[in-house]
Parts: sequence; C-alpha cells; structure tokens
Amino acid sequence: MDFIDLKTQYAALREPINARIQKVLDHGQYIMGPEVKELEDRLSAYTGAKHCLAVASGTEALLIALMALGVKPGDEVITTPFTFAATAEMIVLIGGKPVFVDVEEDTANIDVSRLEAAITPRTKAIMPVSLYGQPADMDELNAIAARHKLPVIEDAAQSFGAEYKGRKSCNLSTIGCTSFFPSKPLGCYGDGGAIFTSDDALAKAMREIRVHGQSGRYQHTRIGVGGRMDAIQCAVVLAKLERFDWEVRQRITIGSHYDALLATAPVKTIAVRPDRTSVYAQYTIKVAERAKMELKLKDRGIPTAVHYPLSLHQQPAYAAGYVGQTYPVSERLAREVLSLPMHADLDEATQQRIVSAVKA
Ligand SMILES: Cc1ncc(COP(=O)(O)O)c(C=O)c1O
Repeated sequence: MDFIDLKTQYAALREPINARIQKVLDHGQYIMGPEVKELEDRLSAYTGAKHCLAVASGTEALLIALMALGVKPGDEVITTPFTFAATAEMIVLIGGKPVFVDVEEDTANIDVSRLEAAITPRTKAIMPVSLYGQPADMDELNAIAARHKLPVIEDAAQSFGAEYKGRKSCNLSTIGCTSFFPSKPLGCYGDGGAIFTSDDALAKAMREIRVHGQSGRYQHTRIGVGGRMDAIQCAVVLAKLERFDWEVRQRITIGSHYDALLATAPVKTIAVRPDRTSVYAQYTIKVAERAKMELKLKDRGIPTAVHYPLSLHQQPAYAAGYVGQTYPVSERLAREVLSLPMHADLDEATQQRIVSAVKA
C-alpha cells in the first residue's frame, strides 16, 4: 500500500503527460517556454485570481511574495507554528521574525481570535497556512488585516483546489502561494509552485523578482532570485489538470468517508468547517498513543506519516527565538497527529482495511 499513490495516477494520465513532455523536448524551450504562460493562464482562470506566476517551488513562492511586499530585516510576519518549516523559514531568510499565533484545536489552522493581540507596529504581513488542505477563517482574518492595513499571504501549498465560501484557495487574500511538490493535491514531477494575486503592481514586482529582478533583459532594477518553473514541470501540471476536478471530488469524498468511518473509533479527526472544503493534502487523525498506533499500523502494512512532529518553536533552528514562549495547542497536536494514506485513487476496500486497522 502506498501512502500517496502516484503510479496509478500516472497510469491514468500516461498519454497526455508523455505527449506534453515530448512537446517540450521537441520545441526545446526549457526555460520560460510556452507551457509556462499556458499554465499560468489556466490556473488564473481556475482560481479567479487576475495574475498567476509559475515559480520554482512553494518555498520560492513564499520568498518572492515576502520580497515583493518589502519585508525587511527586523519586520515581523505573523504565522502559525504548526506548519511545514518553509513557512517560517522564508521569513527568517530575509531577516524577518515569524511571530507565532497558536492554532485551533479542531482544524489545526491559525486561531484568528488570537490574531489581533499579536499585531505590533513592526508587523508587516500575516501569513495563514491552509493546513492539510483547508483554508483558515479567511474573512475574519482579512478583516483584521484590513483594519491594520496589512497584506495577507495565504500559504496554500497544501490547499490548491479547496474552497472557502465558494471562492478558491490561492485567491482568498493579497497573495496566495502554492506548491506543486509531487505529493501535493496538484503536483508535478519535481519542484514547482505558483503565486496568485489580483494586484497589478505586486504581480509586476513578483515577475521581476522571479528572474533576478529584471524589468527587461539585463536590466536589473531590483534584487531578485532565480525562481522560474521549468517548462517540463509546467507541462506535467497541464496534463494533470485533465482529471483534476475529478481528483478534487474524489479527495473530498474519501476524506468525508474517513470521517464517517472513524466517527466511532477512539481517535479524533480534523474538523472541516461547513463554509469551506479541504482537498486533504493529508488526512490526519489525532491519537494519544501515537507511537503505538504507528507501529501497529506498520505491522499491518499500512504506511503513515507525522505532519508535524514538533511545533516550529521547538525545532532546533528556531527555538532560540522563542525561549519561554509556549503554543500549547500546536505542541499537543505535534504529539498526537498521524496522517493516513490519502490520494484520489484510494479505493473503498483499501480504505476499509485502513479504518479497521485503526479501530483494532
Ligand atoms: C505549508 C507548506 N508551505 C510551504 C511548502 C513548501 O513547498 P515546496 O516543497 O514546493 O517548496 C510546503 C511543502 O511541503 C508546505 O506544506
């Protein structure tokens, strides 16, 4: 059993993926070839955001967004400590300080009721994470941000395809950043990512930052990065869009099915609010005796993963900046969360087997 089965997906999409890759090999425009713009147009139409930029990875997307917003050394960016390191890492990389706001117990997303208390005169942006595939309470978060005139970057690395009140993740705030890491809900076959915004000036700045700050060929008008996405990777994502709507429906069905099947098990599940959807980048449960559960499932041939085993303020690279600070919900989740196999091709019999093992 695979934790995430990319082989079945490839078998279903072999022809369009191979044809799309072959086309790039034939025209030879590996960097900024026509697939880049084609993908950007498709994704901007999909999300409703005016601009989309394909970039080298989800990490690079966050970095470019922070650079475009002018986050400077000493600035604070509010985010959650219960996320993949890249979220906070890019803030630190440009000299900023991640200010952590604890998460909600049931959704594991930023607890917006604690947000305003974390805002200081040094706050430059707010960066919620749509963890496990579900957006946070973005209306409330955007309202607080607007009161303080702060931009919002949605770290939507795990949530491409999810919806919040009928609007698509990545188009819920000033900037949305996603990842096409192979195991993500929409993945390529290497590294890739995308940035979304409807702000023309920010889009222009981010396009320049993506190519070493160039406003024209060899006109370096700002400091940038090498942040382009390869045409071959764009080709893979374009091919995968063929059945992406079906995959999103499958993920939602499989996730709700897990919820229903586990309702009577002695484990807790992650809540999905009624006004939004999750694309379940991970299907995650909470279990007090996690190590024991991991081992027992492994014995039965069921792979699991922990997203994430430590709250970021407990990680060695970050701990020194957070001495004496605690984020109790995040710390508890880090002790209890366990992700079960989840992908669009997970069949019912396999899901039953997983659930029976968890219950046992
Ligand atoms: C929440 C979050 N942010 C950022 C990233 C970084 O994305 P990438 O791996 O494409 O750089 C990831 C990917 O794992 C993620 O899960």
